Amino acid sequence: MHDDVARILVDGDAIQRRIAELGAVISSDYSGGSRPILVCVLKGAYMFLSDLARHITIPHEVDFMATSTYQGGLDSRGVVRLVLDLKANIVGRHVLLVEDIVDRGGTINYLLRLLGERQPASLRTCTLLDKPSRREYPVQLEYIGFEIPDEFVIGYGLDIDETYRNLPFVGVPTPELVERLLGPIATE
Ligand code: IMP
Ligand code: MG
Repeated sequence: MHDDVARILVDGDAIQRRIAELGAVISSDYSGGSRPILVCVLKGAYMFLSDLARHITIPHEVDFMATSTYQGGLDSRGVVRLVLDLKANIVGRHVLLVEDIVDRGGTINYLLRLLGERQPASLRTCTLLDKPSRREYPVQLEYIGFEIPDEFVIGYGLDIDETYRNLPFVGVPTPELVERLLGPIATE
């Protein structure tokens, strides 16, 4: 545990066990020999992608995209903006988007629309965490690590004010940490 974490929601062992399962399912689903592209949505999914890729037993490529929302803080609300695009041409390719968390669904909705227009052979989503109770955009998620309640979480790639991504588990920050980093309004 960590002094700045009030509660662990998903511990490191559970994350690793689930990733091994997801890796096995994805390897089997994409076993047709077509070499899928795993697209890591930066920054949050960097740790998830690197562990997931170690459990994928079929040949695949990795590529990266990054988005940002104009607003920081605990709420993901804001205009989604593309800050890094793929290097790969995905026309006719099987693409698997790898996300850290789907919350309101705005980010993944934006990326699915953007990539869908580029005529991939298939386009699916794998997310470590899903907060379905907060959904505002209907999105289809083919691979989900864990469903979590409506709480702001940090660790295993997820940040608060760009820090705590390195925690090996997913947990809820203490109100003191939130206030220290984001100010008193954020904890109300
Ligand atoms: P959405 O667009 O509302 O689905 O939010 C997606 C993005 O918001 C994620 O990729 C995260 O970067 C961020 N986000 C949403 N919920 C959390 C959270 O609980 N902790 C940290 N980041 C979050
Ligand atoms: Mg993110």
